[in-house]
Amino acid sequence: MSELEKIAKAMVANGKGILAADESFPSIKKRFDSIGIESTEETRRTYREMLLTAPGMGEYISGVIFFDETLRQSTAKGERFVDVLNRAGIIPGIKVDTGSKPLAGFPGEEVTEGLDGLRARLQEYVKLGAKFCKWRAVINIGSGIPTPAGIDANAHALGRYAALCQEQGLVPMVEPEVMMESDHNIDRCYDVTVDTLLRVFRELAEQRVNFEGMILKTNMVVPGKKCADQANVQKVAEMTIHALRTAVPATVAGIVFLSGGQKPEPSTAHLNAMNAMGLQLPWPLSFSYGRALQDSALKTWRGKAESFAAGQKVFSHRAKMNGLATLGKYRDEMEKEAA
Ligand code: 13P
Repeated sequence: MSELEKIAKAMVANGKGILAADESFPSIKKRFDSIGIESTEETRRTYREMLLTAPGMGEYISGVIFFDETLRQSTAKGERFVDVLNRAGIIPGIKVDTGSKPLAGFPGEEVTEGLDGLRARLQEYVKLGAKFCKWRAVINIGSGIPTPAGIDANAHALGRYAALCQEQGLVPMVEPEVMMESDHNIDRCYDVTVDTLLRVFRELAEQRVNFEGMILKTNMVVPGKKCADQANVQKVAEMTIHALRTAVPATVAGIVFLSGGQKPEPSTAHLNAMNAMGLQLPWPLSFSYGRALQDSALKTWRGKAESFAAGQKVFSHRAKMNGLATLGKYRDEMEKEAA
């Protein structure tokens, strides 16, 4: 097995998943605004230290996605965050796209940027200790969108990114996110998700990406947030698995989900339901949540030194619940036991 394949497998190891802590400056500002604290280099550093040094973290977390600034930061005592993770057996990763912009000629659609100079940036990230990367494509649902051209533009960029990562010995986490902001129903999400995944994998194959040395990060099949007809846990689990079986090659090393605006507990329950079905799937199904892992810890911490340990406790609990969900062993009652 190649080094790339070993890293990819370790990212989806039994009982573990990935923490997405790669919020860009505007995104972390939004999160900090919600708890009324200023976003500065030091508040961001402290917040990330709280998450990364949470007790028991290595039991349920296989990898962490950093933002550029965080990959270079250290704990208050001066240990590099990368070294903190390595000591805990957690794999450091890095977000390498530079964000999405409106796609010219296609109102409402976006394309992710960041390919220019990417090879040199990846070389630096390897030196800084990163083992995997993330690139997120945004697929919006609306009237007449996404278009085939809009999806293909994003799929092409994902292919270019993934090939460059593998060239540099980094595992690409390939993330096409079908957004849940709209009022579409679950069937529409299913259709767009399958179409997107089929186009992405055709592009990855054409660009000679090794599927065994990559991870797919994708959305679950869910109705839009504004849809009147919300789906139950079982339906989300079944339709998501059906979409993945239809469109994801069996050789892909693993699939992780983003939370995408789902609340923490449903995110856990959906993942658990998929893993509790007892199906023989070709890939492990795990998590790579941002908000669903962090939101309750952020609200508990609120930027106060005296709440640092309480924030860690809340974070460790969510990590544990999701770790159990990768094994299909999560139960609602476990939320109360922790309270
Ligand atoms: P959410 O789980 O908050 O959607 O974030 C995951 C992520 O990394 C999106 O790119």
